[in-house]
Amino acid sequence: MHSKKNQTTQPTQEFPVFNNWNEIANGWYFAFPSKDLPKNEVKPIQICGQELVFYRGADGKVRALDAYCPHMGTHLGKGKVVENNIRCFFHHWQFNEEGVCVDIPCQKEIPDKAKVQKYSVEERYGAIWIYPSDKPSHTLVDFPELHHSVEKKVSFGKVYERTCHHHVTMINGIDPQHLKTVHQLDIEMKIDISEVQNGNMIDISLKGKIGKGVWREKLARFFLGPEYSYSMRYDHGNNGFLTLMRDVYFFKFKWPTLHMIFAYRPLEKGRLMVQPIYVTKKRKGLLGWMISGILIWMTKKAFFALQGEDGAVYENMRFYPGNLLQIDRPVAQYIQYVNKLKTSSWKLP
Ligand code: FES
Ligand SMILES: [Fe+2]
Repeated sequence: MHSKKNQTTQPTQEFPVFNNWNEIANGWYFAFPSKDLPKNEVKPIQICGQELVFYRGADGKVRALDAYCPHMGTHLGKGKVVENNIRCFFHHWQFNEEGVCVDIPCQKEIPDKAKVQKYSVEERYGAIWIYPSDKPSHTLVDFPELHHSVEKKVSFGKVYERTCHHHVTMINGIDPQHLKTVHQLDIEMKIDISEVQNGNMIDISLKGKIGKGVWREKLARFFLGPEYSYSMRYDHGNNGFLTLMRDVYFFKFKWPTLHMIFAYRPLEKGRLMVQPIYVTKKRKGLLGWMISGILIWMTKKAFFALQGEDGAVYENMRFYPGNLLQIDRPVAQYIQYVNKLKTSSWKLP
């Protein structure tokens, strides 16, 4: 939650969606790794303040419903999977994947109101993702270069927390000024920003020439050539798909791109969880396995190096965009994009 201090001399600015802990925008929220939910098991979890229950049916498919049984309110997390349905612990009412009651042991008729809200679920990147309604605007997106159909190797980083809203921490990936001031990368950049998927997604790419000044620039030039580019794809303002090392050559060989996902999920007002997920193409054979492993390792190293340099900024930042410059254009455009996102019925405690 941003600080309410200094209001008389430095009033804060409120936005309809951006940096607003009172709203949960629609989007695919990371739930947990797939391996945490075996077949025929139930997993209760609170996501963005909403009590939910996930279960994996006998067919291997994952479903998600609101947690409280519409009969008397027993938490369905205590329930049992029966084929592809979930059965409440207390009086054995059974609900299908649509959240509709299909069996009441003590009588034949099923009341119309015997229903529980269902949510759309996706299983991708070795994880389970949930949308705060059953009508997602689109499926979980992919990296520009790593299409859905490509088989992927995935590694989960350590989850960490921030006190800042994810809309604010996500600015880190698209803020051109700090690349020079914090990360000491003096790159003359061409910035491309485009909204896609009916405004639910924004693509930002930065392309430029590496400077010739400090040692890390010289090193970068030596190894990577004079050009550098990276792209950040933000989906629904809550997942960042980062592609590094695009258009980079290593002694004339095109270097494979590095990919990672920043999956953000607010836990309560003023508390954000971040799940880093490192992704690469799954390659065949022992050599392929080694190459994929090295690329994942490099992605982790790149992430730690960059995060170590500015992660602490988000511990007590009180975001205020009152004096944005021309160079901050991506930030301004990003704020506009987030403010147009649709909000859900979920609320943080
Ligand atoms: S409370 Fe769930 S069946 Fe009665
Ligand atoms: Fe940064």
